[in-house]
Amino acid sequence: MMARARRAAALIPAMAILSCLRTESWDPCVQVVPNISYQCMELNLYKIPDNIPVSTEMLDLSFNYLRHLGSHNFSRFPELQVLDLSRCEIKIIEDNTFQGLNHLSTLILTGNPIQSLAWGAFSGLSSLQKLVAVETNLVSLDDFPIGHLKTLKELNVAHNFIHSFKLPEYFSNLPNLEHLDLSNNKIQNIYYEDVKVLHQMPLLNLSLDLSLNPLEFIEPGTFKEIKLNGLTLRSNFNSSYVMKTCIQGLAGLKINRLVLGEFKNERKLQKFDRSCLEGLCNLTIEQFRIAYLNKFSRNDTDLFNCLANVSMISLLSIPLGSLQALLKDFRWQHLEMINCDFDKFPALELRSLKKFVFTDNKDVSSFTKTELPSLQYLDLKRNHLSFKTCCSHTDFGTTNLKHLDLSFNDVITLSSNFMGLEQLEHLDFQHSTLKQINAFSTFLSLRNLRYLDISYTNIRIVFHGIFTGLVSLQTLKMAGNSFQNNLLPDIFTELTNLTILDLSKCQLEQVSWTAFHSLPSLQVLNMSHNKLLSLDTFLYEPLHSLRILDCSFNRITASKEQELRSLPRNLTWLNLTQNEFACVCEHQSFLQWVKDQRQLLVGAEQMMCAEPVDGKVMPVLGFRNATCQMSKTIISVSVVTVLLVSVVGVLVYKFYFHLMLLAGCKKYGRGESTYDAFVIYSSQDEAWVRNELVKNLEEGVPPFQLCLHYRDFIPGVAIAANIIQEGFHKSRKVIVVVSQHFIQSRWCIFEYEIAQTWQFLSSRAGIIFIVLQKLEKSLLRQQVELYRLLNRNTYLEWEDSVLGRHVFWRRLRKALLAGKPRSPEGTADAETNPQEATTST
Ligand SMILES: *[C@@H]1O[C@H](CO)[C@@H](O)[C@H](O)[C@H]1NC(C)=O
Ligand SMILES: *[C@@H]1O[C@H](CO)[C@@H](O)[C@H](O)[C@H]1NC(C)=O
Ligand SMILES: *[C@@H]1O[C@H](CO)[C@@H](O)[C@H](O)[C@H]1NC(C)=O
Ligand SMILES: *[C@@H]1O[C@H](CO)[C@@H](O)[C@H](O)[C@H]1NC(C)=O
Ligand SMILES: *[C@@H]1O[C@H](CO)[C@@H](O)[C@H](O)[C@H]1NC(C)=O
Ligand SMILES: *[C@@H]1O[C@H](CO)[C@@H](O)[C@H](O)[C@H]1NC(C)=O
Ligand SMILES: *[C@@H]1O[C@H](CO)[C@@H](O)[C@H](O)[C@H]1NC(C)=O
Ligand SMILES: *[C@@H]1O[C@H](CO)[C@@H](O)[C@H](O)[C@H]1NC(C)=O
Ligand SMILES: *[C@@H]1O[C@H](CO)[C@@H](O)[C@H](O)[C@H]1NC(C)=O
Ligand SMILES: *[C@@H]1O[C@H](CO)[C@@H](O)[C@H](O)[C@H]1NC(C)=O
Ligand SMILES: *[C@@H]1O[C@H](CO)[C@@H](O)[C@H](O)[C@H]1NC(C)=O
Ligand SMILES: *[C@@H]1O[C@H](CO)[C@@H](O)[C@H](O)[C@H]1NC(C)=O
Repeated sequence: MMARARRAAALIPAMAILSCLRTESWDPCVQVVPNISYQCMELNLYKIPDNIPVSTEMLDLSFNYLRHLGSHNFSRFPELQVLDLSRCEIKIIEDNTFQGLNHLSTLILTGNPIQSLAWGAFSGLSSLQKLVAVETNLVSLDDFPIGHLKTLKELNVAHNFIHSFKLPEYFSNLPNLEHLDLSNNKIQNIYYEDVKVLHQMPLLNLSLDLSLNPLEFIEPGTFKEIKLNGLTLRSNFNSSYVMKTCIQGLAGLKINRLVLGEFKNERKLQKFDRSCLEGLCNLTIEQFRIAYLNKFSRNDTDLFNCLANVSMISLLSIPLGSLQALLKDFRWQHLEMINCDFDKFPALELRSLKKFVFTDNKDVSSFTKTELPSLQYLDLKRNHLSFKTCCSHTDFGTTNLKHLDLSFNDVITLSSNFMGLEQLEHLDFQHSTLKQINAFSTFLSLRNLRYLDISYTNIRIVFHGIFTGLVSLQTLKMAGNSFQNNLLPDIFTELTNLTILDLSKCQLEQVSWTAFHSLPSLQVLNMSHNKLLSLDTFLYEPLHSLRILDCSFNRITASKEQELRSLPRNLTWLNLTQNEFACVCEHQSFLQWVKDQRQLLVGAEQMMCAEPVDGKVMPVLGFRNATCQMSKTIISVSVVTVLLVSVVGVLVYKFYFHLMLLAGCKKYGRGESTYDAFVIYSSQDEAWVRNELVKNLEEGVPPFQLCLHYRDFIPGVAIAANIIQEGFHKSRKVIVVVSQHFIQSRWCIFEYEIAQTWQFLSSRAGIIFIVLQKLEKSLLRQQVELYRLLNRNTYLEWEDSVLGRHVFWRRLRKALLAGKPRSPEGTADAETNPQEATTST
């Protein structure tokens, strides 16, 4: 209480701050289901909050300070069905407190120190079925005002101070009462008078719990002719003698289910011996259960003789050690022996036993053959059993077995082919060690088997016919095993009805193309915790019914693009978490595909990229394909650049001279020319050049300086460089001596082409053509460019006559003088214009 008060004191300022922050909607209760269910637990409430909707059906007000409940306190909530008032320090409940709650079915008053409970406190609760008044300081049922609650089914008044088992008269008014929990009260004695009301109401279907009452005496005959659905007497007796006499006191009781024994942590009996149960012979019992007895006399030979006719018997944590002399004519149909410290397997021979559960008996290591001809259900899990040959009908003495559970045992050698066990529908070997599973089709005869669990059975599957014969199988669990070469082969070919397949933790690296081709009914496939490297969607394509696919905890980096098929249409749950996704542009279509499947993916936000991006762990869904576009651009830009560079390179290589010219053009374009003209001619015409051209131009007035390659080119320098450096760059003009030879000479054409480029670039009318002889048109046309130029431009024609020579030289000098910066001597020649020269037709 102090702690709570202190906590409350600490909470109040905090809440005040909160309420200041949220002035508008001060709503402390948790809305579990809007308008329906509200939880106001532990909120230091002193009254019922105002803002709970009237439509509320479930209201939890536990752990508050309601203290005093008055008339119509809850009438605001006419729809209320469940009201929890646990530990609200309620001391007073007035008349009509719950008036108006016509639909209330459950009222919980646990842990309230009720001092005053008005006679009409529960009036109006016309539908109440369950009333829990545990730990409410109740002293007697007599003055508990519930007599009018006709609908009551369950009354729990455990953990109070009730001394008398007397069931009050008003019980006759509660025809629906099924459960009465009086456990942990102070009842010591039970007399015939106490249960008079049960004699009056023979049809009452009542289960009684009297556990943890310090019972000492039950008057013999009290329960004679009384029929109960259940009676629980656990941790009631502090000695075998008291137990024995009390059980004898139950003589004549007809009961469906009797539970005896103690609680694990509430042991009172020092020693238990078989005589305790002798009195059971005078009872009619359908089901008998006994649990947690400390010391148990090992002399059990006729322990169960009085229980020969029960249909169900359950022994939980009873140190039996061994079990002998169970008679064949015991009518047991259902026997459970859980954690009973057996040292060997009981050799049972029971004709009517249908269900046998023998589990958690750690010391039992070898199985003894049983003779249980009616057995259908056998659960032997969590023992320490080994089977040298398993399994056939001779082991269990039955051919009716449908359910066999040998899980969590030791080594089981499957060598018997399940002979005579063709009825089996459910078979569980998980966590046992299976041997000889690869030898032959072990399950061949189990054509009715629906469920097979061989998870974690330490098998390495080599034999492809392992599941042959299991035509009805619906569930196959084989997690935690392994396969030859870590490859899943075609082993499911006959399992056409399979709906659930668990292949997790099988170290699978690869899956055969056709592994799932024969599974049209498969709905759940678990491939998690394997070593798959890519998501091969084509594998799952034939699984038309697939709803759930778990590929989590693999090493999936991506999926090959051509493998990205659409997933089965009915797939609604896909788990790809905990893989090693490679968030790189190479897989951007896969990553986009993942995004597109987002509505199928569970925990999509938790899917992380394997490699941190920029030092951060990046979610797969955060991958932006825009970055790829960018890098794509970068790549294409670089590709284009490389291409351009190489093209330019090639061009430069090809037009090296042109470029050199370009450079030279700039350099020499400012009138620094050394020569007046560079002469291009064929060496065949050299004589003419030397004798006529050079003589007349260089020695005439004004003298022109000509660049002639035979004379001016620098020895040792590449001829092309010479042409450019010496010829063009240093010359203002170019004279092209066109002749038959010139046209035929490649070299001249080459020089000419360069010159032409230069002319084009310098945009000066710098080329002067001299045509030496009449040219054959057809020959000229071969040199297209030259032909065009000659057609377009003016040219000088050499005429070897006196007059012709005179005209020729005058025109040539004039053309050469054009654009020459200094011309002190050449003014006289200005009258003739080369443009007026003969134009070719
Ligand atoms: C809850 O009830 C209020 C008023 O009765 C109504 O306006 C509101 O829609 C209801 N909310 C839900 C979720 O039903
Ligand atoms: C119950 O109703 C009474 C009046 O009938 C009122 O004084 C009291 O505060 C109410 N209690 C709660 C917890 O609402
Ligand atoms: C008796 O009550 C139990 C529940 O305690 C119920 O399962 C059973 O069907 C009831 N039997 C009859 C005959 O009403
Ligand atoms: C059993 O309980 C009774 C009273 O409840 C007591 O007198 C008696 O000594 C107890 N016996 C043992 C063995 O504890
Ligand atoms: C069975 O009850 C009768 C009397 O009702 C009694 O004589 C007999 O001893 C009882 N048997 C056992 C085993 O308690
Ligand atoms: C156990 O029962 C056998 C007879 O079934 C008897 O011979 C033996 O003495 C008994 N032992 C004890 C400890 O009661
Ligand atoms: C079991 O039932 C049979 C026949 O109904 C009866 O003879 C036998 O006495 C009964 N045994 C017990 C222990 O009630
Ligand atoms: C497979 O299941 C269908 C429907 O559940 C059933 O009709 C059919 O008999 C089953 N096939 C086998 C071989 O059990
Ligand atoms: C798949 O198997 C793993 C481990 O075996 C398990 O944790 C997981 O819950 C299973 N997934 C589904 C969908 O059942
Ligand atoms: C897919 O699911 C729907 C509804 O759950 C079902 O009717 C249909 O048969 C399923 N399709 C396949 C191929 O199983
Ligand atoms: C990139 O993402 C956009 C939307 O996020 C999508 O429409 C587009 O198809 C994606 N491109 C590629 C190549 O995946
Ligand atoms: C996905 O599967 C893993 C392992 O099977 C599991 O731990 C995880 O909870 C699953 N995610 C969801 C959202 O169920």
